[in-house]
Amino acid sequence: MNPIIRKLFYALPIPFRYGIRKIIYFPTDIFRDKTSLVPPKGMIFTGAGDYLKVGQMFFEYFKKYGNLTPESSILDVGSGIGRMSIPFTTYLSSKGRYEGFDIVKKGVNWCNQNIGNKFPNFNFQLIPLRNDLYNLSTTDKAASLKFPYLNDSFDFVFLTSVFTHMMPEDVENYIQQIQRVLRKDKICFCTFFIIDEQSKKSMNNNGSKKFPYDYGNYSLMDKNVKEANVAYHKEYLMTLFEKHHLQVTRFIRGNWSGVEPGEFNEHQDVLIIKKI
Ligand SMILES: C[S@@+](CC[C@H](N)C(=O)[O-])C[C@H]1O[C@@H](n2cnc3c(N)ncnc32)[C@H](O)[C@@H]1O
Repeated sequence: MNPIIRKLFYALPIPFRYGIRKIIYFPTDIFRDKTSLVPPKGMIFTGAGDYLKVGQMFFEYFKKYGNLTPESSILDVGSGIGRMSIPFTTYLSSKGRYEGFDIVKKGVNWCNQNIGNKFPNFNFQLIPLRNDLYNLSTTDKAASLKFPYLNDSFDFVFLTSVFTHMMPEDVENYIQQIQRVLRKDKICFCTFFIIDEQSKKSMNNNGSKKFPYDYGNYSLMDKNVKEANVAYHKEYLMTLFEKHHLQVTRFIRGNWSGVEPGEFNEHQDVLIIKKI
């Protein structure tokens, strides 16, 4: 998105942002196939790109790095409007389990009404928490959330474009919670904007100072809507994972900063984390 348009968009109250999207896509949405698992475009508040293709592409990465089987127990943290869950509906057997949670009611409702209703081993929970991009209707903080799942209950946890919208104390709590609910030797796949020497240099060279507000361990794209986009400094993240007994087994660079990306050519950076 053009930076000026983005700034204007973020300046709007949250319900207006959701409303504008609905109005823009209304003409195409009225002709959509109402039995489809794909939500109306006007409801997709979780990112650009083709809903099904993006989900399918990530699913291939999940299979590659997540040691998935059809019996796996999967946790989708920040499940949005279900984009990542669709490929799992034809992959998981009845012994598999898919849990998602999110802070935005309309996304969770959509998922339960259209995915959970058809696939009994898929369940989505609403956990309303404050986030200045997505939800201002509560003061409850992600920093104090205990994930509503048992210890050692998941084989694979993922967060796609979620830590990029969370502040440090919240991220640290989620890392702790992931460590708690993940089984030993199992994988968490998560995306970030990671600031290191290369991404810093590239941002300066190409003039796109994407995260101009530096607060030490993290940097922001927009000072007013902090959680619009948050980037983390690499050493800080590495220390955090180590502190919570999680091993970073792979760092796959995304193309957001202009540095030559790794194997995915994804926008965000990917970290593959293992519980040790
Ligand atoms: C860019 S969207 C990505 C959604 C989904 N992961 C996907 O890739 O389609 C970011 C999502 O993170 C959710 N979110 C933000 N803060 C959260 C938190 N503390 N816990 C869980 N979800 C959160 C938002 O509501 C939103 O659905």
